[in-house]
Amino acid sequence: MITHFAGLQLHTVSKLAVKQFYHDQLQFPVVFESETAITFQPTADFALTFTEAFEPIAPAHIAFEVPYSEFEASAAFVRSAGISPLKWPAGHEIDVFETGRNIYFRDGDGNLLEIITHSYVNEGVLAPCGPLKVMYLREIGFPVNDVIGFREWLKGTLQLKTIKEQDNFNFVIGGTAHTIVTSTQRRWIPIAMIAMPPRMAVSFGVSDSRFIQQVRTLLEEQGIVSHTNAGHDEELSFSFNGYRLRLVVTASPEETAALLNLPLARK
Ligand SMILES: [Fe+2]
Repeated sequence: MITHFAGLQLHTVSKLAVKQFYHDQLQFPVVFESETAITFQPTADFALTFTEAFEPIAPAHIAFEVPYSEFEASAAFVRSAGISPLKWPAGHEIDVFETGRNIYFRDGDGNLLEIITHSYVNEGVLAPCGPLKVMYLREIGFPVNDVIGFREWLKGTLQLKTIKEQDNFNFVIGGTAHTIVTSTQRRWIPIAMIAMPPRMAVSFGVSDSRFIQQVRTLLEEQGIVSHTNAGHDEELSFSFNGYRLRLVVTASPEETAALLNLPLARK
């Protein structure tokens, strides 16, 4: 099964600006850097990579989950780092919803970042990392033209699950990973940002190589070409609907989502 988001690669027009934002301001540790690429490690389980590309950037949306008790500190840290949170049309920055709170801001390429917290998530399971207090990457947005088709493909091929289904917006979930399958016609809150499909590569952490073998078989049946690194079966890369996807076996425990008390994982 899919346990979490293990990695995300995005394009940028300036590696230096990315470093100033994610390292100097947000204080994400740098674990790799070359002339044109940089990788941050916001948590032990998630790597965020930017690679320079000579092309326009379609901004992505991602959300980091922080502990409920640390949300105010996390939001205060964003502001103290010199980052201006985005405002809702009504003027507020922190939004309070039934089960939690969130706040949004953007990086220099226009990527829409969110800090989110939920009161039902158990604390003490995943250590909050850095001054932003990130426990895990919760969301990656996948704008698509065919929402229902992509949602059903994720459910059928990657064994992701939904709680509630809508024609233009869905959380399709595996472990702590929430893929947001949203219509390109639906704008991102809170700034009504046009939802263009970003050029990105998403790595899903999975529990075992048997799952990878199952997915490989399903992809073959669908005529989707996949690639494995020679000599081991713990990784699988392929493209679907314009998105580069990768499955990789990690040591991240299968029960984390249940321990966190996430709705689909509750026992
Ligand atoms: Fe979000």
